[in-house]
Amino acid sequence: MIVLSSLSYYNNATMNKVKNTLFGNKPVTIDNNSLIMAIESSCDETACAIVKGGRTVLANVVASQIKIHEEFGGVIPEIAAREHLEAVNVIIEETFKQANISGNDITAFAGTVGPGLVGCLLVGLNAAKSLALAYDKPFIGINHLNAHLAANFIDTDLEPPFIALLVSGGHTQIIKVKSYSEMEIIGETIDDAVGEAYDKVARLIGLPYPGGPKLDKMAHDGNSFAFKLPEARVDGYNFSFSGLKTAVLRLVKSFDGKELPVQDICASFQECVSSTLYKKVKKAAEEFGYKQVVLAGGVAANSEIRRKIFSLQDEGYKVYAPQMKYCTDNASMVASAAFYFENTYDDIDIEVFSRI
Ligand code: KG4
Ligand code: ZN
Repeated sequence: MIVLSSLSYYNNATMNKVKNTLFGNKPVTIDNNSLIMAIESSCDETACAIVKGGRTVLANVVASQIKIHEEFGGVIPEIAAREHLEAVNVIIEETFKQANISGNDITAFAGTVGPGLVGCLLVGLNAAKSLALAYDKPFIGINHLNAHLAANFIDTDLEPPFIALLVSGGHTQIIKVKSYSEMEIIGETIDDAVGEAYDKVARLIGLPYPGGPKLDKMAHDGNSFAFKLPEARVDGYNFSFSGLKTAVLRLVKSFDGKELPVQDICASFQECVSSTLYKKVKKAAEEFGYKQVVLAGGVAANSEIRRKIFSLQDEGYKVYAPQMKYCTDNASMVASAAFYFENTYDDIDIEVFSRI
């Protein structure tokens, strides 16, 4: 069975998405009643979800591997892939059960194609393809970063255009989302991603994996201005976080084995990162005349980054961030991306990829 082509358009009168996909010569219309089942396995979460009309989650099941990778201080790709293999069928069954829906009722199946860990991606993608073939339904391959953006469509009325700040474990980008089919990355990190910087600094000060959320928590009880850490000066809308990481390393060494003021270091680091992100995204929204600002990616769960970005509401912007459970990796965002975005890979022969 081969996907022949795909065609999408919008019904402007209602702004409802109507997507026609030809799958094995069979046209399928994706509209607001469509049920998309998606699988996500790009890193250390095995996830499956069923979403109706791109915005209403009927079931969202996530099996996290955090406990397994904790003892190694980071994700071990080979172990992660094996864990996905163990979990994937259970997760799919549980999703059908929670939504009280059978495979025959699903309009299309979606899976994450990349970027991510290849061995991990292969498990979820092949599971999604197999379901599409078994139930004779369309298959839609999804870019993980588009999925993070689409987390903002869940339970909201968000429509493009908007400016997005995407902050995850592997990426940091400012994106102009001009429409569902046109996006432009206007800035990105030239070295570490924000999530990566959080995790590395957390390790430096002795916090266990995954460090980001723990660092965020410690920062609550610290003084944000205890230490002046350097904000990198990078042209335009690009970012750099490796200098900041080195500055924290130097600060830690300066204590020469004495007890570290961990909370103050966390708060000062968090202040530095969040104000850099805030300034750049505000500048981009102003310069390009966007009225809606969207935060996305695992680090969108960060309390101070959320607070600063939401403060743009006081300046007249409409601000969106995913609900906490849809910030880090999940499959509802993948289903929503399958519903809304155009630059997906509607091809059963699509291969996984590790980097963009
Ligand atoms: O988006 P995500 O699930 O993975 C990628 O697609 O890369 O994001 C995971 C990242 C990790 O680096 C994790 O430490 C970070 O998001 N993270 C946080 C918080 N929650 C998750 N970083 C800072 N503060 C948080 N509250
Ligand atoms: Zn992610």
